[in-house]
Amino acid sequence: MTKRTYTDPTIQSSEITPERMFLNRRSLIRAATAASATMFGLPAVGSEVSAEEQMLDFTDDPNRILAAEQTPYDAVTSYNNFYEFGTDKSDPARHAHAMSIDPWTVKVGGLVNQPGELYLEDLLGGFELEERIYRFRCVEAWSMVVPWVGFPLSALLNRFQPKAEGRYVEFKTLYRRSEMRGTRSFGSVIDWPYREGLRMDEAMHPLTLVAVGLYGKTLPSQNGAPLRLVVPWKYGFKSIKSIVEINVTDRQPKTSWQMLQPREYGFFANVNPAVDHPRWSQRYERRLPSSVFNPNRVATLPFNGYADQVAGLYEGMDLSQDY
Ligand code: MTE
Repeated sequence: MTKRTYTDPTIQSSEITPERMFLNRRSLIRAATAASATMFGLPAVGSEVSAEEQMLDFTDDPNRILAAEQTPYDAVTSYNNFYEFGTDKSDPARHAHAMSIDPWTVKVGGLVNQPGELYLEDLLGGFELEERIYRFRCVEAWSMVVPWVGFPLSALLNRFQPKAEGRYVEFKTLYRRSEMRGTRSFGSVIDWPYREGLRMDEAMHPLTLVAVGLYGKTLPSQNGAPLRLVVPWKYGFKSIKSIVEINVTDRQPKTSWQMLQPREYGFFANVNPAVDHPRWSQRYERRLPSSVFNPNRVATLPFNGYADQVAGLYEGMDLSQDY
């Protein structure tokens, strides 16, 4: 990773200090409170921070590099894609509360030695929650920087012991028509349930997160409660929400957007400013909050800025073909 030094004197320590956890599910509370303000060695709220102290060396801590760029909580939770609740960006925040998330089970099967269906509490018990501040880039060219709370997907998969012949992982979202108005509406385009997939090495990569919270709070429904995937080097549609089923497979799974429009949405969906979407450029993104008066346009980075960590996964592949 390139060595970077942070010198912005305007940042307030209160802005970069993760909020205390307010996760109210039994097994989450204990684990989550461990992620306290001091977890990343950040200055405590209210303490005096000298200019010298702010000359921090971020060599090994991507959380710190991005802390200064965090997108406001209101933007992260009010401008969403969750087609189960409608196609307008404001629909999920208005309608996702209709989805009941307690109790919640996740079924893990396919090519694993220990298949099973577990209640969320039992599934999460034992995982140490951590905060990861990630850039998040939607294929529609908007982006944000979000402090997620979660644990690596690899930890979850290992618990079910994938078999050696398992080469891919398939994910499915809850499909409950009575609670999801977007799945009932005329012209609803997706073949429900929403489906996504990763190659096994992508799924096992340490950056791939199962998120159960953001900004130190439980995940709001519109952001994919109670658990969702976050794959920061891929376009946002890979980050499937409200997961109820995970299968290890030996074949590349069909994904919702690929089924809908394979020319526009590939299986890999790695963020790539050099490969345009057939209908728009991917060279720039609008960092939320963004408006016509202040578009907040920034250049898109290869692999969304995570090339050092993940480019090696795709050696020998032509990423203009395997998009
Ligand atoms: N997961 C489900 N189940 N349904 C969806 O419509 N939209 C995807 C992804 N996961 C989607 C989903 C897309 S296109 C994006 S950009 C991100 O969720 C948006 O995540 P956010 O609303 O938390 O920003």
